[in-house]
Amino acid sequence: MLIEKPVERSGFLVVGVDFGTTYTGVAYAHSEVPDPNRIAVITKWPGAGTQTRPKVPTEIGTLPSGKRGWGWQLRAGMKRFGGFKLLLDPKAGDKAYNDEQLLLTLDPGDPSARSQLREGESATDMATEYLALIYEEVMTALGRRFPNSLGGLKIKFIITTPAMWSRAAQHNTLMAARAAGFGSRPQDHLEPVTEPEAAACYAMKEVNVSEGQVACISDSASWQPDRQIIICDAGGGTVDLVTYAIDQVHPFLKVLETVPPRGGFCGATSLDERFLQLLRRRLGRQARLLDGPRAGRGSRLMQSFDDVKRNFGTSHYEEGELIEHGIRGIREDIDNGIEEEYIKLSHDDMKSIFDPVIDKVLTLIQDMAKEARRREPTKPVTGIILVGGFGESMYLTQRLKRWASRQSPPVFLCNPNESWAAIAKGAVCYGLEGIVHRRVLPCHYGAVLDSPFDADIHDPNYTYTSRWSKELYSSDGMEWFAKMVG
Ligand SMILES: Nc1ncnc2c1ncn2[C@@H]1O[C@H](COP(=O)(O)OP(=O)(O)OP(=O)(O)O)[C@@H](O)[C@H]1O
Ligand SMILES: [Mg+2]
Repeated sequence: MLIEKPVERSGFLVVGVDFGTTYTGVAYAHSEVPDPNRIAVITKWPGAGTQTRPKVPTEIGTLPSGKRGWGWQLRAGMKRFGGFKLLLDPKAGDKAYNDEQLLLTLDPGDPSARSQLREGESATDMATEYLALIYEEVMTALGRRFPNSLGGLKIKFIITTPAMWSRAAQHNTLMAARAAGFGSRPQDHLEPVTEPEAAACYAMKEVNVSEGQVACISDSASWQPDRQIIICDAGGGTVDLVTYAIDQVHPFLKVLETVPPRGGFCGATSLDERFLQLLRRRLGRQARLLDGPRAGRGSRLMQSFDDVKRNFGTSHYEEGELIEHGIRGIREDIDNGIEEEYIKLSHDDMKSIFDPVIDKVLTLIQDMAKEARRREPTKPVTGIILVGGFGESMYLTQRLKRWASRQSPPVFLCNPNESWAAIAKGAVCYGLEGIVHRRVLPCHYGAVLDSPFDADIHDPNYTYTSRWSKELYSSDGMEWFAKMVG
């Protein structure tokens, strides 16, 4: 008799792939060393030289030699395609939480949306091509780390998707990853997880294991069973949220999902779009100088704005920052802050870029907290764990802290260490051992089922005579296996 090899027991690798709108990260761990503090992150990427980078830009382009380049290989000003992840489900998200400026870039009629895709290719084609580059790099890195055993080692790949996406888009991402090579070896396996759930797996474990050392949980009352915690992944494209009630803390953490995940297109890319909009207004008739790659992804202008954006809200932020535009031919217009080499942005300008986006994020969090209190009135919302690149913004943190302190009971805000890489590490934690023991159904599940006609409950317009029993049947029936709670 053939006995299947007990691969799980002989140890396997878990690889978490955080496929992001702007950056992608990969982490891994061996099942026999499941300590969250010992999860390795891939930090060497082509084009980054000897520098360590916890993530790689989600971009494909062309190098000056005409060869295909990607990620860190693409230098300032080189033509590139990116942001295609959002085009996998441009209709996702709730209107109330989507930033209208970012939505414009997802409109197929808009030139900036078209520039995200190569002529004649779909978002799925671009995602597959990019993920294939990631797969190759991951297997090379793992081959270096496990030179003698990789060939026979089982790998469980976990890929992240935004929680707000439709089932179809989540499925398409999985298909793109499969076509790119993930899970293609016979012993390997590929599975999706939502971004906030991955974030929760890492952040809650990290916070939990280092209890007492992390300032944000010094208030241990927030970290007890029957408290609700919101996890917010504020990334480049989307801001994704999920809420859990703590079920048990010891001997291991167990949580229950209390509100289905929700999110919006209001990530940090909205800030870039709003900056360009402000610039177009200022430039007036010169605005056409922004067309094409001069103001596109990776241009000097956008890189310079990125630096200023990351600084906003910190004590290093200078009133009246200068942004190097690198666009030849711009006429000076001192009244509008346009100089030969720089564009001047005041504190108020920056606020006008940040505030509408942060208002969306706060509305999202506020509505999530309201819903959590409505569904579980006896379990107070006591914490928010903020992760993702945008989650590192000091300005966002300050505004969120202000909101959190006004809540009753007050809500603590926690930014785990290395929150930028938290999602990939969280996907690994999820693959090793999840913490979520109950989820809220995202939809009802059932099957169409015809039953004998009953005049009290059935619509006579949907009747027919059964060919077998010659009895009258109704074709308007459903048998529900599982129903969502309201
Ligand atoms: N300190 C900061 N302030 C504001 N924005 C920041 C800061 N640090 C990083 N960002 C922005 O965060 C984004 C990257 O974050 P992250 O890697 O979490 O996003 P992503 O995973 O690519 O996107 P998504 O999760 O939405 O698909 C970039 O748009 C970057 O400009
Ligand atoms: Mg992300």
